[in-house]
Amino acid sequence: MKKILVTGSTGNLGRAVVTALNTKGFGVRAAARTPDKLPAAAGVEPVRFAYEDQASHAAALQGVDGLFLIAPPLDAEAPAKLAPIIDLAKAQGVRHIVFASALGVDAVEQAPLRIVERRLMASGVPYTILRPNFFMENFSTGFLAPMLKQGGIFLAGADGKTSFISVLDIAEVAAVAFQRELTGKAYNLTGPEALDHAKVAGILSKVSGKKIAYQAISEADMLQGMRDAGLPEGAVHYVGVLYSAVRAGYMAAITRDVETVIGRTPIAFEAFARQNAPVWA
Ligand SMILES: NC(=O)c1ccc[n+]([C@@H]2O[C@H](COP(=O)([O-])OP(=O)(O)OC[C@H]3O[C@@H](n4cnc5c(N)ncnc54)[C@H](OP(=O)(O)O)[C@@H]3O)[C@@H](O)[C@H]2O)c1
Repeated sequence: MKKILVTGSTGNLGRAVVTALNTKGFGVRAAARTPDKLPAAAGVEPVRFAYEDQASHAAALQGVDGLFLIAPPLDAEAPAKLAPIIDLAKAQGVRHIVFASALGVDAVEQAPLRIVERRLMASGVPYTILRPNFFMENFSTGFLAPMLKQGGIFLAGADGKTSFISVLDIAEVAAVAFQRELTGKAYNLTGPEALDHAKVAGILSKVSGKKIAYQAISEADMLQGMRDAGLPEGAVHYVGVLYSAVRAGYMAAITRDVETVIGRTPIAFEAFARQNAPVWA
Protein backbone atom coordinates (compact mmCIF):
# COMPACT_ATOMS: atom_id res chain seq x y z
CA MET A 1 0.00 0.00 0.00
CA LYS A 2 1.44 3.38 -1.01
CA LYS A 3 1.70 6.00 1.71
CA ILE A 4 1.14 9.72 1.04
CA LEU A 5 2.06 12.64 3.31
CA VAL A 6 -0.70 15.27 3.18
CA THR A 7 0.27 18.79 4.26
CA GLY A 8 -2.42 21.23 5.45
CA SER A 9 -4.49 18.23 6.53
CA THR A 10 -6.58 20.24 9.01
CA GLY A 11 -7.58 22.71 6.28
CA ASN A 12 -10.41 22.71 3.76
CA LEU A 13 -8.51 21.12 0.90
CA GLY A 14 -6.20 18.91 3.00
CA ARG A 15 -9.10 17.31 4.90
CA ALA A 16 -10.77 16.38 1.62
CA VAL A 17 -7.51 14.97 0.23
CA VAL A 18 -7.01 12.81 3.32
CA THR A 19 -10.51 11.36 2.84
CA ALA A 20 -10.13 10.85 -0.93
CA LEU A 21 -6.79 9.05 -0.55
CA ASN A 22 -8.05 6.97 2.35
CA THR A 23 -11.12 5.94 0.30
CA LYS A 24 -8.86 4.81 -2.55
CA GLY A 25 -6.86 2.61 -0.18
CA PHE A 26 -3.72 4.73 0.19
CA GLY A 27 -1.99 4.91 3.55
CA VAL A 28 -2.18 8.54 4.70
CA ARG A 29 0.18 10.46 6.94
CA ALA A 30 -1.64 13.64 7.91
CA ALA A 31 0.68 16.56 8.61
CA ALA A 32 -0.55 19.18 11.10
CA ARG A 33 0.93 21.81 13.38
CA THR A 34 -1.26 20.39 16.14
CA PRO A 35 -1.93 16.76 15.24
CA ASP A 36 -4.34 16.50 18.21
CA LYS A 37 -6.80 18.54 16.10
CA LEU A 38 -7.13 15.66 13.64
CA PRO A 39 -10.06 13.30 14.11
CA ALA A 40 -8.96 9.66 14.55
CA ALA A 41 -9.51 7.66 11.37
CA ALA A 42 -8.42 4.17 10.38
CA GLY A 43 -5.53 4.30 7.91
CA VAL A 44 -4.62 7.89 8.82
CA GLU A 45 -1.46 8.50 10.83
CA PRO A 46 -1.12 12.04 12.27
CA VAL A 47 2.32 13.64 12.34
CA ARG A 48 3.52 17.01 13.63
CA PHE A 49 4.69 19.32 10.85
CA ALA A 50 5.22 23.06 10.54
CA TYR A 51 6.66 24.77 7.47
CA GLU A 52 8.94 26.94 9.63
CA ASP A 53 10.23 24.02 11.71
CA GLN A 54 12.66 22.16 9.47
CA ALA A 55 13.26 19.63 12.23
CA SER A 56 9.68 18.42 11.75
CA HIS A 57 10.08 17.72 8.03
CA ALA A 58 12.37 14.69 7.94
CA ALA A 59 10.27 12.55 10.28
CA ALA A 60 7.09 13.49 8.43
CA LEU A 61 8.61 12.51 5.07
CA GLN A 62 10.27 9.32 6.33
CA GLY A 63 9.07 6.29 4.34
CA VAL A 64 6.32 7.98 2.31
CA ASP A 65 5.91 7.34 -1.43
CA GLY A 66 4.12 10.56 -2.26
CA LEU A 67 3.64 14.10 -0.99
CA PHE A 68 0.51 16.24 -1.33
CA LEU A 69 1.95 19.71 -0.90
CA ILE A 70 0.08 22.92 -0.19
CA ALA A 71 1.61 26.32 0.46
CA PRO A 72 0.71 28.12 3.67
CA PRO A 73 -2.28 30.22 2.51
CA LEU A 74 -1.81 33.89 1.49
CA ASP A 75 1.92 33.68 2.21
CA ALA A 76 4.31 35.52 -0.10
CA GLU A 77 7.18 33.67 1.61
CA ALA A 78 5.86 30.32 0.35
CA PRO A 79 8.76 29.72 -2.10
CA ALA A 80 11.37 29.99 0.66
CA LYS A 81 9.31 27.74 2.92
CA LEU A 82 8.54 25.04 0.35
CA ALA A 83 11.88 24.78 -1.50
CA PRO A 84 13.66 22.92 1.34
CA ILE A 85 10.70 20.55 1.68
CA ILE A 86 10.85 19.70 -2.05
CA ASP A 87 14.61 19.10 -1.76
CA LEU A 88 14.22 16.94 1.33
CA ALA A 89 11.40 14.94 -0.25
CA LYS A 90 13.71 14.21 -3.17
CA ALA A 91 16.58 13.23 -0.88
CA GLN A 92 14.31 10.92 1.11
CA GLY A 93 13.10 9.10 -2.03
CA VAL A 94 9.62 10.55 -2.45
CA ARG A 95 8.49 9.44 -5.92
CA HIS A 96 5.59 11.81 -6.65
CA ILE A 97 4.66 15.32 -5.45
CA VAL A 98 1.17 16.70 -6.15
CA PHE A 99 1.23 20.45 -5.54
CA ALA A 100 -1.87 22.58 -4.92
CA SER A 101 -1.18 25.83 -6.77
CA ALA A 102 -3.89 28.26 -7.94
CA LEU A 103 -5.67 29.08 -11.19
CA GLY A 104 -3.92 31.67 -13.31
CA VAL A 105 -0.56 31.78 -11.54
CA ASP A 106 1.18 30.50 -14.66
CA ALA A 107 0.43 33.90 -16.24
CA VAL A 108 2.44 35.74 -13.55
CA GLU A 109 6.02 34.47 -13.25
CA GLN A 110 6.69 36.41 -10.03
CA ALA A 111 3.60 34.99 -8.23
CA PRO A 112 4.74 33.03 -5.15
CA LEU A 113 2.87 29.88 -6.18
CA ARG A 114 4.32 30.10 -9.71
CA ILE A 115 7.83 30.28 -8.24
CA VAL A 116 7.06 27.10 -6.27
CA GLU A 117 5.70 25.45 -9.45
CA ARG A 118 8.94 26.27 -11.29
CA ARG A 119 11.03 24.96 -8.36
CA LEU A 120 9.07 21.71 -8.33
CA MET A 121 9.29 21.25 -12.10
CA ALA A 122 13.07 21.69 -11.93
CA SER A 123 13.47 19.37 -8.92
CA GLY A 124 13.60 16.10 -10.84
CA VAL A 125 10.85 14.63 -8.63
CA PRO A 126 7.86 13.42 -10.71
CA TYR A 127 5.15 16.02 -10.13
CA THR A 128 1.55 16.97 -10.80
CA ILE A 129 0.46 20.60 -10.50
CA LEU A 130 -3.17 21.36 -9.64
CA ARG A 131 -4.35 24.92 -10.24
CA PRO A 132 -7.80 25.26 -8.69
CA ASN A 133 -10.01 28.33 -8.81
CA PHE A 134 -11.50 29.81 -5.59
CA PHE A 135 -13.03 27.09 -3.42
CA MET A 136 -16.80 26.87 -2.87
CA GLU A 137 -15.97 25.89 0.71
CA ASN A 138 -14.55 29.38 1.36
CA PHE A 139 -18.22 30.30 1.96
CA SER A 140 -18.98 27.39 4.35
CA THR A 141 -15.87 26.55 6.36
CA GLY A 142 -13.16 28.76 4.86
CA PHE A 143 -11.99 32.34 5.22
CA LEU A 144 -15.32 33.90 4.15
CA ALA A 145 -17.42 31.91 6.64
CA PRO A 146 -17.15 34.48 9.48
CA MET A 147 -18.35 37.23 7.08
CA LEU A 148 -21.42 35.19 6.17
CA LYS A 149 -22.20 34.76 9.86
CA GLN A 150 -22.44 38.58 9.89
CA GLY A 151 -25.18 38.35 7.27
CA GLY A 152 -23.60 39.02 3.93
CA ILE A 153 -20.79 38.88 1.40
CA PHE A 154 -18.77 42.09 1.48
CA LEU A 155 -16.02 41.85 -1.12
CA ALA A 156 -14.29 43.94 -3.76
CA GLY A 157 -15.34 41.51 -6.50
CA ALA A 158 -17.54 44.04 -8.38
CA ASP A 159 -19.59 41.94 -10.80
CA GLY A 160 -16.66 39.70 -11.76
CA LYS A 161 -17.53 36.05 -12.25
CA THR A 162 -15.68 33.09 -10.72
CA SER A 163 -15.87 29.42 -11.68
CA PHE A 164 -15.83 28.24 -8.05
CA ILE A 165 -14.79 24.61 -7.45
CA SER A 166 -15.48 22.24 -4.57
CA VAL A 167 -12.51 20.89 -2.63
CA LEU A 168 -14.15 17.46 -3.05
CA ASP A 169 -13.43 17.62 -6.78
CA ILE A 170 -9.88 18.91 -6.30
CA ALA A 171 -9.22 16.12 -3.78
CA GLU A 172 -10.59 13.52 -6.18
CA VAL A 173 -8.28 14.81 -8.90
CA ALA A 174 -5.33 14.65 -6.48
CA ALA A 175 -6.12 11.07 -5.46
CA VAL A 176 -6.47 9.96 -9.11
CA ALA A 177 -3.18 11.74 -9.93
CA PHE A 178 -1.42 9.61 -7.31
CA GLN A 179 -3.28 6.45 -8.30
CA ARG A 180 -2.63 6.73 -12.04
CA GLU A 181 0.73 8.49 -11.64
CA LEU A 182 -0.33 11.45 -13.80
CA THR A 183 3.12 13.02 -13.65
CA GLY A 184 4.65 15.88 -15.64
CA LYS A 185 1.22 17.49 -15.93
CA ALA A 186 -0.59 20.63 -14.78
CA TYR A 187 -4.38 20.78 -14.48
CA ASN A 188 -6.42 24.00 -14.35
CA LEU A 189 -9.36 23.06 -12.13
CA THR A 190 -12.66 24.93 -12.22
CA GLY A 191 -16.27 24.31 -11.45
CA PRO A 192 -18.83 23.87 -14.24
CA GLU A 193 -20.11 27.49 -14.31
CA ALA A 194 -18.93 31.01 -13.54
CA LEU A 195 -21.01 33.03 -11.05
CA ASP A 196 -20.73 36.56 -9.75
CA HIS A 197 -21.08 37.16 -6.01
CA ALA A 198 -24.65 38.47 -6.33
CA LYS A 199 -25.63 35.14 -7.86
CA VAL A 200 -23.73 33.29 -5.10
CA ALA A 201 -25.59 35.31 -2.45
CA GLY A 202 -28.89 34.50 -4.18
CA ILE A 203 -28.18 30.77 -4.13
CA LEU A 204 -27.08 30.80 -0.50
CA SER A 205 -30.23 32.76 0.43
CA LYS A 206 -32.43 30.31 -1.46
CA VAL A 207 -30.98 27.13 0.10
CA SER A 208 -30.69 28.50 3.63
CA GLY A 209 -33.96 30.42 3.80
CA LYS A 210 -32.03 33.38 5.21
CA LYS A 211 -31.43 36.63 3.33
CA ILE A 212 -27.76 36.85 2.40
CA ALA A 213 -26.81 39.95 0.43
CA TYR A 214 -23.76 40.73 -1.66
CA GLN A 215 -22.36 44.19 -1.21
CA ALA A 216 -19.63 45.10 -3.69
CA ILE A 217 -17.22 47.23 -1.66
CA SER A 218 -14.09 49.11 -2.65
CA GLU A 219 -10.71 47.41 -2.56
CA ALA A 220 -9.56 49.88 0.13
CA ASP A 221 -12.53 49.03 2.36
CA MET A 222 -12.07 45.29 1.86
CA LEU A 223 -8.37 45.44 2.72
CA GLN A 224 -9.03 47.58 5.79
CA GLY A 225 -11.60 45.03 6.95
CA MET A 226 -8.98 42.28 6.60
CA ARG A 227 -6.46 44.35 8.61
CA ASP A 228 -9.10 44.96 11.29
CA ALA A 229 -9.71 41.19 11.40
CA GLY A 230 -6.01 40.73 12.23
CA LEU A 231 -4.64 39.52 8.88
CA PRO A 232 -0.93 40.32 8.47
CA GLU A 233 -0.06 42.96 5.86
CA GLY A 234 1.44 40.41 3.45
CA ALA A 235 -1.79 38.42 3.45
CA VAL A 236 -3.87 41.60 3.05
CA HIS A 237 -1.86 42.49 -0.07
CA TYR A 238 -2.30 38.92 -1.38
CA VAL A 239 -6.11 39.14 -0.99
CA GLY A 240 -6.02 42.46 -2.88
CA VAL A 241 -4.28 40.80 -5.84
CA LEU A 242 -6.77 37.90 -5.82
CA TYR A 243 -9.85 40.14 -5.99
CA SER A 244 -8.34 42.39 -8.64
CA ALA A 245 -8.15 39.20 -10.74
CA VAL A 246 -11.85 38.55 -9.97
CA ARG A 247 -12.82 42.10 -11.05
CA ALA A 248 -10.79 41.75 -14.24
CA GLY A 249 -12.73 38.59 -15.14
CA TYR A 250 -9.66 36.32 -15.04
CA MET A 251 -11.33 33.89 -12.61
CA ALA A 252 -14.33 33.23 -14.89
CA ALA A 253 -12.55 30.72 -17.12
CA ILE A 254 -14.11 27.25 -17.27
CA THR A 255 -12.00 24.22 -18.09
CA ARG A 256 -12.74 20.53 -18.56
CA ASP A 257 -9.70 19.29 -16.64
CA VAL A 258 -11.69 17.90 -13.68
CA GLU A 259 -13.79 15.80 -16.04
CA THR A 260 -10.72 14.70 -17.98
CA VAL A 261 -9.11 13.31 -14.83
CA ILE A 262 -12.04 11.94 -12.81
CA GLY A 263 -14.52 11.15 -15.58
CA ARG A 264 -17.48 13.19 -14.34
CA THR A 265 -18.51 16.81 -14.38
CA PRO A 266 -17.52 18.87 -11.33
CA ILE A 267 -20.00 19.71 -8.57
CA ALA A 268 -22.24 22.73 -9.34
CA PHE A 269 -22.40 25.61 -6.84
CA GLU A 270 -26.07 25.04 -6.13
CA ALA A 271 -25.49 21.35 -5.31
CA PHE A 272 -22.66 22.35 -2.96
CA ALA A 273 -24.94 24.96 -1.35
CA ARG A 274 -27.81 22.52 -0.81
CA GLN A 275 -25.44 20.02 0.77
CA ASN A 276 -24.22 22.66 3.23
CA ALA A 277 -27.40 24.71 3.71
CA PRO A 278 -27.53 24.43 7.53
CA VAL A 279 -24.24 26.37 7.75
CA TRP A 280 -25.94 29.60 6.59
CA ALA A 281 -29.40 29.09 8.12
N1 LIG B 1 -9.15 28.78 -0.62
C1 LIG B 1 -9.12 28.97 -1.94
O1 LIG B 1 -10.07 29.46 -2.56
C2 LIG B 1 -7.89 28.54 -2.71
C3 LIG B 1 -7.89 28.62 -4.11
C4 LIG B 1 -6.76 28.19 -4.82
C5 LIG B 1 -5.66 27.70 -4.13
N2 LIG B 1 -5.70 27.65 -2.76
C6 LIG B 1 -4.52 27.09 -2.06
O2 LIG B 1 -4.88 25.83 -1.52
C7 LIG B 1 -4.18 25.62 -0.31
C8 LIG B 1 -5.15 25.16 0.77
O3 LIG B 1 -6.10 26.15 1.01
P1 LIG B 1 -7.24 25.95 2.10
O4 LIG B 1 -8.33 26.91 1.77
O5 LIG B 1 -7.54 24.50 2.25
O6 LIG B 1 -6.52 26.50 3.38
P2 LIG B 1 -6.98 26.44 4.91
O7 LIG B 1 -8.33 25.80 5.04
O8 LIG B 1 -6.75 27.77 5.48
O9 LIG B 1 -5.94 25.42 5.53
C9 LIG B 1 -4.59 25.74 5.58
C10 LIG B 1 -3.83 24.56 6.13
O10 LIG B 1 -2.45 24.91 6.18
C11 LIG B 1 -1.96 24.65 7.48
N3 LIG B 1 -0.92 25.60 7.81
C12 LIG B 1 -0.99 26.96 7.77
N4 LIG B 1 0.18 27.49 8.15
C13 LIG B 1 0.99 26.43 8.44
C14 LIG B 1 2.33 26.32 8.90
N5 LIG B 1 3.06 27.41 9.12
N6 LIG B 1 2.85 25.08 9.09
C15 LIG B 1 2.10 23.98 8.87
N7 LIG B 1 0.83 24.01 8.43
C16 LIG B 1 0.29 25.23 8.24
C17 LIG B 1 -3.17 24.83 8.39
O11 LIG B 1 -2.92 24.14 9.59
P3 LIG B 1 -3.39 24.66 11.04
O12 LIG B 1 -4.64 23.87 11.33
O13 LIG B 1 -2.27 24.29 11.92
O14 LIG B 1 -3.62 26.14 10.93
C18 LIG B 1 -4.25 24.18 7.54
O15 LIG B 1 -4.21 22.78 7.64
C19 LIG B 1 -3.45 26.92 0.01
O16 LIG B 1 -2.10 26.82 -0.35
C20 LIG B 1 -4.13 27.95 -0.85
O17 LIG B 1 -3.25 28.97 -1.24
C21 LIG B 1 -6.78 28.04 -2.06
